[in-house]
Amino acid sequence: MAKVQKIFACTSCGASSPRWEGKCSSCGEWNTLQEEVIMKETPKEKQKKMWKGAGRKVKEKAKPKHITKIETGNTQRRETHDKELNRVLGGGIVSGSIVLIGGEPGIGKSTLMLQLALSLDAKILYISGEESEEQIKMRADRLGTRTSDCYIMSETNLTNSLMQAQILEPDLLVVDSIQTLTSPHIESPPGSVSQVRECASELQRFAKESNIPVFIIGHINKDGAIAGPKLLEHIVDVVLQFEGDRNYTHRILRTIKNRFGSTAELGIYEMQGTGLRQVSNPSELLLSQKEEDLSGSAIAATLEGARPMLIEAQALVSTAVYSSPQRSATGFDLRRLGMLLAVLEKRCGFQFGSNDVFLNIAGGLKVNDPAIDLAIICSLISSLEDVALPSNICFAGEIGLSGEIRSVQRIDQRIQEANRLGFEQIYISKYNMKGVDPSRFDLEIIPLAKVEELYRHLFE
Ligand code: TYD
Ligand code: MG
Repeated sequence: MAKVQKIFACTSCGASSPRWEGKCSSCGEWNTLQEEVIMKETPKEKQKKMWKGAGRKVKEKAKPKHITKIETGNTQRRETHDKELNRVLGGGIVSGSIVLIGGEPGIGKSTLMLQLALSLDAKILYISGEESEEQIKMRADRLGTRTSDCYIMSETNLTNSLMQAQILEPDLLVVDSIQTLTSPHIESPPGSVSQVRECASELQRFAKESNIPVFIIGHINKDGAIAGPKLLEHIVDVVLQFEGDRNYTHRILRTIKNRFGSTAELGIYEMQGTGLRQVSNPSELLLSQKEEDLSGSAIAATLEGARPMLIEAQALVSTAVYSSPQRSATGFDLRRLGMLLAVLEKRCGFQFGSNDVFLNIAGGLKVNDPAIDLAIICSLISSLEDVALPSNICFAGEIGLSGEIRSVQRIDQRIQEANRLGFEQIYISKYNMKGVDPSRFDLEIIPLAKVEELYRHLFE
């Protein structure tokens, strides 16, 4: 007979322990263990089941195959009308695949999925445990996309959901969200580790057996990881992260894991009154619009994933009000800003010690690409000296501790993007010049080795 058992499961990594502990012995996180009730089968029953299953499987399909005998080509990809989504998925939706979309509340996950469901030329089942059918219909009306063969079901019971899916036989199943689903086999509340794990593996089995692709929406916890165990990420084929600053309109869809394509891809959207719009030309969205040249702003040719983007760095250097000057950065690492300021002081003799320094990356984007360093240095000097830079120049280079300008990857792509947007000059590291053929571009490429040279070029 099945018996009820209590365990303590870690909400971070999914490991379980027979008793409560302050620190998870598996992942080392503090205060993540939660009590859960599970139905446990007695070992004998379990063994019986296992053997039964194994016997059937051996007869049916589980035989080793020689690698040359395995046929490919029957993994079909369905292209969507959403170019950005196709890009991050690696060329379309693979049949039988299971895709997890994570993101903060209110970022637009449900909107993205509903838009996909409404625009695809196929039969779709959209299961929502978060919103009622009327609410979804209202949203669909607002999105104004042409309605396809889309079915909506408001349900939190997993078994019933999958049963309905089997009857309907859709071409795509969307589940909003995994944290609201409950499997009747597990006693724990929805969103708990064992529920999430059970529902995810049940959905995976459904996807693999029926060959229907499944999109799962997952919530994000306070550290930005997908809530529920890491295990969830191991179960699914593709993990996408939907991110962006809620105060700005653009959203970024990033690939974290993809069994069918590259993880260097990025999709960009703009949230509008009528839903998400694909942005095929991100630089135009990210460069701030202004009439006159103002001091403290410089444009960097950065790469986000594999996509080149021109982003504006803005700095404000002003006389400090308090005895300890303030340093503040939005969209850029504060410690790296400290390092760049130290390089400017030590190698070039600028004094920031009695100034407050504020740095902002336009558009609310977070930039990790080190190639933005050069533009940041320029914006800092420009604001300190109160000299505006011409608006038709941009920068791509990393700054080393001794003030040298280091080479960055994929310089060709960056120059090409700057060229396309009509910039007239780009400042890069002289060590990057080897692979570049300047005759291919009609903008001037200026190679630099040290920050001092940059100062001579632009400010003297
Ligand atoms: P939603 O998809 O509900 O977010 P999530 O499922 O990730 O929690 O999106 C919510 C936000 O999007 C909401 O704050 C309003 C905004 N929004 C628009 O600006 N325009 C629209 O057409 C829609 C549908 C939503
Ligand atoms: Mg939602």
